[in-house]
Amino acid sequence: MTAKIISGREVAENILQDLKKRVDILKKKNITPKLVVVLVGDMKASASYVAQKEKFAVKAGIDSEVLRFNSEISESEILNQIDEINKDDEIHGVIVQLPLPDHISVTKVLNRIDPKKDVDGFTPTNVGKLFLGEETLVSCTPKGIMSMLESTGTDLNGKNVTVIGRSNIVGKPVSILCQQQNATVTMCHSRTKDLNAKLADADVVIVAVGVAKFINGDQIPSGAIVIDVGIHNIDGKLCGDVDFETASEKASAITPVPGGVGPMTVCALIENTIIAAERI
Ligand code: GUN
Repeated sequence: MTAKIISGREVAENILQDLKKRVDILKKKNITPKLVVVLVGDMKASASYVAQKEKFAVKAGIDSEVLRFNSEISESEILNQIDEINKDDEIHGVIVQLPLPDHISVTKVLNRIDPKKDVDGFTPTNVGKLFLGEETLVSCTPKGIMSMLESTGTDLNGKNVTVIGRSNIVGKPVSILCQQQNATVTMCHSRTKDLNAKLADADVVIVAVGVAKFINGDQIPSGAIVIDVGIHNIDGKLCGDVDFETASEKASAITPVPGGVGPMTVCALIENTIIAAERI
């Protein structure tokens, strides 16, 4: 079997058409959705992610602003900045690009963001609402993954989903979203014993473990859908948490790296900003 490629770029482009219409409706009411990105330090990967977010914001017709700070900024200065953003009625969404320098507490910073403007869906309030199945701003990578699965026409009802990786940003929330659609979810991670047995009856495999080519084709059941969340630069070549060459021989559909989950995360962030603006 040779897998169909699930192009995140194409799915995001399709969603963009709907987002533009929603932005037009808001603009007729004199509301232009605005996203603020707080970027601390000069990490190359973070700068590249933020540039992609700005580019997609322009395409969707929303405003965006990047507040850049050097890595010596104190925790209290960042917290003060967030207070200012929370008070500013022109700003509908804010994200703090992670990681942050070690002297700044991620927990304190995220807790300070107004949940209504938390377009990353990282605040305890929004995570709690997701857990309880209440309407909320859903974090971007899990939301993007669900849109990609939807684009394949897959009905998760009764399906087996194996998630590898238990992060707060991807593994935990995506497992909840799959359960909301009546999937049976098996949660695995880097220390799971006999991972192959946990993968054997998976209809969908979501890999977000942060290790290059952690999963290969031998471990993928024939015909499964594979979602690869990882991105790694190995000797100048990008790859994911899944060995694409071998996995694409077994899967029925698979996301590429790059051009898979990455563009969907960005698209979900812009959609969340529009949702935040629609709710005011
Ligand atoms: N760093 C890596 N991924 C993310 C993300 O989705 N949001 C934020 N704020 N930082 C990140």
